[in-house]
Amino acid sequence: MSDVTQRLLDTLATYPATPDAASLTLPPQAYTDQGLFELEVETIFKREWLLVGRANDIPDPGDWFTMQVVDDPLLIVRGNDGVIRALSNVCRHRYMPIALDEKGSDKRFVCAYHGWVYGTDGRLVAAPLMEGSLAFDKKDCALPEYRLEIWQGFIFVNLDDDAPALAPQLHEADAMLGNYRIDELVTGIAYDAIWEGNWKLATENGMEYYHHMGLHAATLEAEQPARLARMDPAPASARFAHARCGYAEGIQGQAEGFGNWPRPNCKFSDSELNHVYVMGLFPNMSLAMSSATHNWLSFIPLSPGKTRVVGGFIVAPEMAADAEVMATSNDLVMRINEEDAQATWRLQQVMRSTKAAPGPLNVREGTCAQFYKYLGRTLAGDRLPGLQAAE
Ligand code: FES
Ligand SMILES: [Fe+2]
Repeated sequence: MSDVTQRLLDTLATYPATPDAASLTLPPQAYTDQGLFELEVETIFKREWLLVGRANDIPDPGDWFTMQVVDDPLLIVRGNDGVIRALSNVCRHRYMPIALDEKGSDKRFVCAYHGWVYGTDGRLVAAPLMEGSLAFDKKDCALPEYRLEIWQGFIFVNLDDDAPALAPQLHEADAMLGNYRIDELVTGIAYDAIWEGNWKLATENGMEYYHHMGLHAATLEAEQPARLARMDPAPASARFAHARCGYAEGIQGQAEGFGNWPRPNCKFSDSELNHVYVMGLFPNMSLAMSSATHNWLSFIPLSPGKTRVVGGFIVAPEMAADAEVMATSNDLVMRINEEDAQATWRLQQVMRSTKAAPGPLNVREGTCAQFYKYLGRTLAGDRLPGLQAAE
């Protein structure tokens, strides 16, 4: 491990014991260092539950989409039995990817190389001309399966076969989200892009409202002004961080495209009606909610300076069916995502500056401080003074 990576881990180990209000940003090298990135891949992205999509985006048997998570190409498919599985998208013959597109719907998957045929549950159902191959036994050639759980209608996968189950870790988050009935929401606008910056820059940006007054001055600040942002208490489970932002006077949930769609099934608290609410679920998910619409993003690293961002603007089915409302929302959501993507790129450009140094967080950025604590526990747990590593 390089000296730079060692120093970064020593610094990360100081975050868990630092009060949120006294927290500094991460050192700039944390966003560029290859050694830290490789540690993040091994410790976080090969072990933690990662959000890859919405269950109701593949509603029918045979519906599927592909997703690369670190080195693993996944084929997420709803089987003929209705069960969603994360299959290895690598043929059991000579490694060709089975599904070559981003998404589709098929009764069977036929490998493009030699025509082996797999069912929607991953079992090999046919392999042409294999008579005489002594090593071949059809039942040994199913596509391997990854761990998958559905939480609040979101599909999570885990590359670690021995990872603890996800749902029991999220009871505290469930309690915060119950009134929103997220599993009833459908994708109004799908998002999939490459952001030219480190996944942590994108993640921390996705969990605070303070940047509305700068980055989103022309889009969000008028209705959700940064001065009305406030932290929710840090959860005991430390699995997420969350914050709220009040609507500007006179707006009260009537913001165009965001807060004004009725959801008669839902019983919201006054706080939920009068604030937008953001939950940053560790390691890499942002969920920004109004009472009517949610915008989720999952930041999957490709390299220290490049991140695949998948997400969606999810809404009540009736709202998704209103073309005019969705067109307005589409313009706004894409513009806001682009503002965040641009910021991530600009930040990444300066991270190798020799004079760049950690700066103080605003108290409205306590969510970022809690994210840094998570990183400290997870990446530098063995260096924490007198503390046990999380998990
Ligand atoms: S690699 Fe798939 S059939 Fe040969
Ligand atoms: Fe933003």
